[in-house]
Amino acid sequence: MKVLLTGGAGFIGRWVAKRLLDDGHQIWILDDLSNGSETNLEEFRGHLGFMQFIKGTILDEALLSDIFTQHRFDICYHLGASINVQDSIDDPRTTFNNDTIGTFYILEQCRKHRTKMVFMSTCMVYDRCSDEKGITEEHPTKPASPYAGAKIAAENMVMSYYHAYGLPTVVIRPFNTYGPFQKTGGEGGVVAIFIKNKISGKKLHIYGDGTQTRDLLYVEDCARFVVESGYSDQVNGQIVNAGLGRDISINELAKLIVEDVSRIQHVTHIHPQSEIQKLLCNYKKAQKLLGWKPEVTLEEGIHRTESWIRESNLL
Ligand SMILES: NC(=O)c1ccc[n+]([C@@H]2O[C@H](COP(=O)([O-])OP(=O)(O)OC[C@H]3O[C@@H](n4cnc5c(N)ncnc54)[C@H](O)[C@@H]3O)[C@@H](O)[C@H]2O)c1
Repeated sequence: MKVLLTGGAGFIGRWVAKRLLDDGHQIWILDDLSNGSETNLEEFRGHLGFMQFIKGTILDEALLSDIFTQHRFDICYHLGASINVQDSIDDPRTTFNNDTIGTFYILEQCRKHRTKMVFMSTCMVYDRCSDEKGITEEHPTKPASPYAGAKIAAENMVMSYYHAYGLPTVVIRPFNTYGPFQKTGGEGGVVAIFIKNKISGKKLHIYGDGTQTRDLLYVEDCARFVVESGYSDQVNGQIVNAGLGRDISINELAKLIVEDVSRIQHVTHIHPQSEIQKLLCNYKKAQKLLGWKPEVTLEEGIHRTESWIRESNLL
């Protein structure tokens, strides 16, 4: 198939690109490099299926119109977005433009060209989890940050194109994802930051009391879920979760990574009002509709991530 992947130079996008190439598709990547990097795609250069990297923004409607008209994509995996909760609080306009308006522009092209659209939403749209059965797709949402608000708005538009135009669309909500190629600086994910601080002898800082939990999904499991959502008609018009099905408090995660508790320090939370106290995924729907389930345990995923950070010298 001919596939457009937005945000493909980013962390998860890079793994989705790999999976699509391994599956024999032709891919075009659109990314403005605001948070991604072309070096993430280096190993795909020269691959027969790697058609083009286009440096550009999803906010450029003329560019979108050109590439959709020229290439007539079968599927668009839409991952390009502003992803940082704190940035969305500091500068809601950028997040709203990229995550809501940008998604609308992509949808319009998909409608015009009858391209299936896979919309990458996030678990951050959910209200806190209250039991051990985990969060199903029926669980209430809560726009606790402009990031969540912008994604929920975009999700609604994506679903409306399924209902109003019969466009094959799917909204996917992966839980917090980690693994190789995630940034290890302040803007990265908690696992990458903790591992980097461990290796470089720094303290692991925990925002608030550390009792908040996360369901951590290894990036290759996430990418497999993303691509399968595009291949299957079963999920059209649906919202689907993916996660590990196990949550861990940030306190326990820090201990798992660094072992020596004297290296752990609690600091004042930067956005307690937008924190989600418990996130635990129930992925039964993905299992039923896609035959998907996670394969990499948290311990194995942390091990792979640490090896990658050491090998890539990201210290
Ligand atoms: N990392 C997670 O834990 C997680 C979990 C669930 C969902 N998601 C979603 O997955 C997607 C990818 O996230 P990620 O963690 O790989 O982040 P990322 O920042 O590494 O990837 C996003 C990419 O989108 C690009 N981008 C941003 N604005 C753009 C624009 N206007 N035009 C074109 N490209 C643009 C960035 O340069 C970046 O390469 C996002 O939609 C995010 O909301 C992430």
